[in-house]
Amino acid sequence: MLINGASRTAIWPDPNGEGVVILDQTRLPHVVAEVLLRDLADAARAIKDMLVRGAPLIGVTAAYGVALAMRADPSDAALGRAVEVLRATRPTAVNLAWALQRIGGFLQPMPEDLRRDAAFAFAKHLADKDIACNAAIGEHGLALIRAAAEKRGGAPVRILTHCNAGWLATVDWGTATAPVYKAQAAGIPLHVFVDETRPRNQGASLTAFELGQQRVPHTLIVDNAGGHLMQHGEIDLCIAGADRIAANGDVCNKIGTYLKALAAQDNDVPFYVAAPVSTLDPALAEGRQIPIEERAQEEVTFMPGLAANGEVISVRIAPQGTPARNPGFDVTPARLVSGIITEKGVVAASREALAGLA
Ligand code: MRU
Repeated sequence: MLINGASRTAIWPDPNGEGVVILDQTRLPHVVAEVLLRDLADAARAIKDMLVRGAPLIGVTAAYGVALAMRADPSDAALGRAVEVLRATRPTAVNLAWALQRIGGFLQPMPEDLRRDAAFAFAKHLADKDIACNAAIGEHGLALIRAAAEKRGGAPVRILTHCNAGWLATVDWGTATAPVYKAQAAGIPLHVFVDETRPRNQGASLTAFELGQQRVPHTLIVDNAGGHLMQHGEIDLCIAGADRIAANGDVCNKIGTYLKALAAQDNDVPFYVAAPVSTLDPALAEGRQIPIEERAQEEVTFMPGLAANGEVISVRIAPQGTPARNPGFDVTPARLVSGIITEKGVVAASREALAGLA
């Protein structure tokens, strides 16, 4: 997708062979900064401190992290350590464990002297696969938007999305945004309502940024506005991403997703989830088994932003000493999900339908 008219991906191998390059998402939309990851510690820090975030991108970054570790030391011990260090960075998105399991299982039986090059090639393969999956999700989601457009009789299809399940959360295209970009390319008029997504404001900072760069018409709303818009017939469908989907179709995504799904059901607005098959966790029977990341209180009591002098600063918004809770994700029960848009097609959020994808 585009930044300032130039085609970009969210992660790429450094052309000089020095490592892997990412965009520092903690500085967007104010500063577009590239960061070179040179070793395992850099990759782990980038995930933990959320320079990269979003389930698919975390997985691909972790795979590159293993490759960086193999460059320094291709031994069994180093491979095991790299996998453990990266796995411990964030608990909720299953794509992280999925990618580590894939690359670890690929490298483990291999002679040590072949691991370095093979690891980079495998990480690149996962990145390319992510792009292809998201493009396919886009095509399947396009059919849903096309159907909504027919009902709208030429007026823009109004889509609500939560957090950033855009190209910055993946390698390219995004999951929830891929159908939007495909619909835009197909000439379907649409308008995206972007939840700000407190506390880290991924909607305001990242989704609004990427839609703006792509020239997709959009409006930023506070997290509490979605229900009101749905009650007034101003949303045609919701599309959210996912960090982990349990075997029964319960969907874990950024905190606040559940409330949007409840409001959608109460107002007969279809609520879709867009995610690659790698986001399914068939080992977990139900959503309540999904580990929910608890993040720092300061993300709630402080707010970052651009000061008048051009500096990015953090300001306190609660009284000193106010305690805060900060669960990063919530679980939307399968009964509230109209369908899951995967690279293999749109399927019901049910045990039977999801078992067919494995
Ligand atoms: O905490 P984050 O920013 O990593 O959370 C991201 C989300 O919840 C996304 O909606 C999800 O990962 C889907 S990404 C295509």
